[in-house]
Amino acid sequence: MPEKDKEGKNFHVNQPQESELFFLKGSNELDWGMKNRLARIFSPEDGRTIMLAIDHGYFQGPTTGLERIDINIMPLVPQADTLMCTRGILRSVVPPSLTKPVVIRASGGPSILKELSDEQIAMDMEDCIRLGVCATAIQVFIGGEYESRSVINMTKLVDAGLRYGIPTMAVTAVGREMERNAKYFRLAVRMCAELGAHYVKTYYVDEGFDTVTASCPVPIVIAGGKKRPERDALEMAYRALQEGAAGVDMGRNIFQADNPVAMMQAVRAVVHGGEKPDKAFELYKSLKGK
Ligand code: 5RP
Repeated sequence: MPEKDKEGKNFHVNQPQESELFFLKGSNELDWGMKNRLARIFSPEDGRTIMLAIDHGYFQGPTTGLERIDINIMPLVPQADTLMCTRGILRSVVPPSLTKPVVIRASGGPSILKELSDEQIAMDMEDCIRLGVCATAIQVFIGGEYESRSVINMTKLVDAGLRYGIPTMAVTAVGREMERNAKYFRLAVRMCAELGAHYVKTYYVDEGFDTVTASCPVPIVIAGGKKRPERDALEMAYRALQEGAAGVDMGRNIFQADNPVAMMQAVRAVVHGGEKPDKAFELYKSLKGK
């Protein structure tokens, strides 16, 4: 027989229950599960994230730096907030003891040998749930040959995710023929957000990036793009954050750096520590020298 408990008396009748606004741009009206997953990706402290992107193999195979995820990448993960990868790598290499949030690459199809915009949804929502992911990622090819289909695929993934509280990150792809200026990215990210993406990964542009973030109603994270000198990559991350980005989803500029562990820490100093590029580069050099 359970012991009979005394009835509570302390109801704080004069104190209204607090309800906070959710910290992420454009996300206040989402359901609890969605917000909770987003709050694992983006730090509630500063609204920022460092996603480590290692999904490149899904269309380009074992590119430089990703030949051995177990050896080259796993040591970087402790300094990342979020891991972005494919389900194949997650199941085969990433230890299930990982407690960091995972954003799963859920689109695919063509390799670098074919028309890249021909991507499809390549993963079932049921498997995303089974893997406990915090968001899905899908490429959207605005201006690409299969533009429309890639946009509709994104909306299908958004709908599937909404059923279970799993957010969708749209990734604006830039093919060879696509422009890379603020006008293009304003169009691309806005389309993704209008059609339901919960946040958008896009590229930084030197001119007018603040207009890209300002006109996008949901958070933006930047891709690193092709490998550039470490100081330049840190400067790009710094400027993107100053101009309204909510973080980075960086791959090659981290794992192809001379010293990826040091680069990861330097990026962390910029994103969460607010460090300026010169200081962050000094940190990189000092860590690299160790
Ligand atoms: C393709 C992708 C990548 O696979 C990757 O995530 C890009 O990261 P980075 O440009 O920083 O290497 O999203 O568009």
